[in-house]
Order: sequence, then C-alpha cells, then structure tokens
Amino acid sequence: MNKVAIVYWSGTGNTEKMAACIAEGVKEAGGEAMLLAPDEFSATAMKDYGAIAFGCSSQGSEQLEESEFEPMFAALEGSLASKRIALFGSYGWGDGQWMRDWCARCESANANLFEETGLILNDLPDDAGQETCRELGRGLAKW
Ligand SMILES: Cc1cc2nc3c(=O)[nH]c(=O)nc-3n(C[C@H](O)[C@H](O)[C@H](O)COP(=O)(O)O)c2cc1C
Repeated sequence: MNKVAIVYWSGTGNTEKMAACIAEGVKEAGGEAMLLAPDEFSATAMKDYGAIAFGCSSQGSEQLEESEFEPMFAALEGSLASKRIALFGSYGWGDGQWMRDWCARCESANANLFEETGLILNDLPDDAGQETCRELGRGLAKW
C-alpha cells in the first residue's frame, strides 16, 4: 500500500515545510500522501496506511511538543510493533537529543523504522534539506 500518513506538529512552520516536502516526494513516486494534525490521527487509523511519517520539532528541553503531539504519540506507542514508520523534525540550538530519544522509543516498541536516526534539519529547511525531505517521501511511497 503506497498510502502514506504524515502526522506532524510545527510551532513556526519549519517542520511543516518538511512535512509538505515529504508529501511532494510521496506524490512524485506515485503514492498518496495525507497530511494530518495530531488530533486527526490515532492507533486505529494506522491500519489504513502503508507507512506513517511522524514529525515534531524539538520542544521543551529536547522533548516532543507536550500538549498535542506527545499525548497522541504516547497513546499509539503501544501499537507500533512492525508498523513502517519514519520520524522527522526541525530543531534549533540542540544536538538532536530529542530525536535520538524518540527513535529509541520506537525501537523499544518494535516499530519498523525507515531510517534508524530519523531526519532532522536545523530551522527552516534550505533547498538541499527540502530535497532530502522529498527523497524521504519517495522512499516511503515505495517501501
Ligand atoms: C519552547 C521551545 C523549546 C525549544 N527547545 C528546543 C530544544 O530543546 N532543542 C533544540 O534544538 N531546539 C529547541 N527549540 C527550537 C525549535 O526546535 C526550532 O526553532 C525549530 O526549528 C522549530 O520548528 P517548528 O517551527 O516546526 O516548531 C525550541 C523552541 C521553542 C519555541
């Protein structure tokens, strides 16, 4: 199934830009992309997609955004076993610890991670970063 859900939270539009480019890549590869907010997704929706890309910028102190994204993700974390997922997000001054922690949570849940490290980009993605996001989308559509 080449239907890809892209479920993301973005405070200032940086991760949103990544999500839009991932969606472009999915479509370039002939897939169907659904861009969704955290409150539009849940564990029961996962079966409708061949792959799911979760996106959230680094918030708090190297944390997922806690009022909308974290509750959504925590609620479906126990249902991630063998699901094909990718993680992405923008960060600022840190070193990507939030993404390392997030990937570790997915590995503990026995999810099937597209990229072990997730895709992180600093601030608003530049042209090269946008192309990296499209490449991820193309990969997810063909997975
Ligand atoms: C409240 C708050 C907390 C943040 N905490 C971190 C952090 O711990 N590490 C980091 O690298 N960037 C941090 N940032 C920076 C954002 O991750 C960065 O600006 C990112 O590009 C925002 O992406 P977004 O527009 O998709 O939310 C924080 C930003 C805000 C507003």
